[in-house]
Amino acid sequence: MDPILINPQTERVVTDTKSLPFGKVPTEHMFIAEYHDGAWHNSRIVPFENLTLSPFALCLHYGQTVFEGMKAFAMDNGQIAVFRLDKHYDRFNKSLHRMCMPAVPKDLFTEAIDQLIALDADWIPRDADGSLYMRPFMIATEDRIGVKVSDEFLFMIVCSPAYQYYAKPLKVKIESRFVRAAEGGTGFAKCGGNYGASFYPTQMAREAGYDQVLWTDSRHHEFIEESGTMNMMFYIDNVLITPPLSGTILDGVTRDSLLTLAKANGIAVAERAISYHEIMKAFEEGKHVEAFGAGTAAVIAPIETIAIGNKQYTCYIEPDALMYKLQKELYEIRKGLAPDPHHWNHIIPQKMAQR
Ligand code: COI
Repeated sequence: MDPILINPQTERVVTDTKSLPFGKVPTEHMFIAEYHDGAWHNSRIVPFENLTLSPFALCLHYGQTVFEGMKAFAMDNGQIAVFRLDKHYDRFNKSLHRMCMPAVPKDLFTEAIDQLIALDADWIPRDADGSLYMRPFMIATEDRIGVKVSDEFLFMIVCSPAYQYYAKPLKVKIESRFVRAAEGGTGFAKCGGNYGASFYPTQMAREAGYDQVLWTDSRHHEFIEESGTMNMMFYIDNVLITPPLSGTILDGVTRDSLLTLAKANGIAVAERAISYHEIMKAFEEGKHVEAFGAGTAAVIAPIETIAIGNKQYTCYIEPDALMYKLQKELYEIRKGLAPDPHHWNHIIPQKMAQR
């Protein structure tokens, strides 16, 4: 019998998590810890519930918020694995540092994930394309509307069953007016403001018939940065090219994993600046151009067309494309169907996972 899952928001029984939109339905529990007087206190797992915050809470006014996005998978052998916990943890703390927020100790982070995932294990989709999306995040909670660094924070983890983030290949446009990040800014940090600031340009692109924008560098609007919720990768002239970690883009966990898998397959990889003129030239010379986004939520999101100015270029998205090969390899490692030579899977301790 399918497990009977109760949606804590509505208290309705949920038997088909697949038909739910991404990030809409929380699992039954959440983790919460409080920071004040220079230390973490009162860490606990509680039923998913609304928060009570002062309307003066600093996060509501000045955007002192940071989040992560991670995934847990039901493996073929019945174990549960969290993908690249260490790398997500490191990135979380780098983002926190940039936003003047306190680090989370590694044992607090790991223990919270182990216990929460074990408790809500029934919510992890067993289907091939399903996983449990985990959202660790921190918000500034000191109640004061003067502009200052908060002295109080909440660190929380909430989860939601996840399937495909994008239902079909994307149509994107090179963004030549707005910018996502500039040197010295917060582009590398997973802070809420980076996402909020992208809404307006993305909304305009949607109104013009595109799914996402391809952000370009702030100085020249020439070099590709990232797209929406993903890093960008191009496969041109048998080289997998992706913009370097210059400080203005996110150090993507999927990005890093795909580069590692490509190298292991003997594919040439280049982390270097790539201009839209170079991409346009490749299209105009009739070359094989694959373009795809890489991210935790999106995994691999094939790009179907790229609009550069008023021209539309068509990317290669046939089933033998490199991106699908890399996607399959990633999938097999996560599901335990292939060896995990890089130790990417953090296995939830057995005693916890068996309820
Ligand atoms: C992720 O891929 O984890 C992200 O952070 C994207 C998201 C904002 C849904």
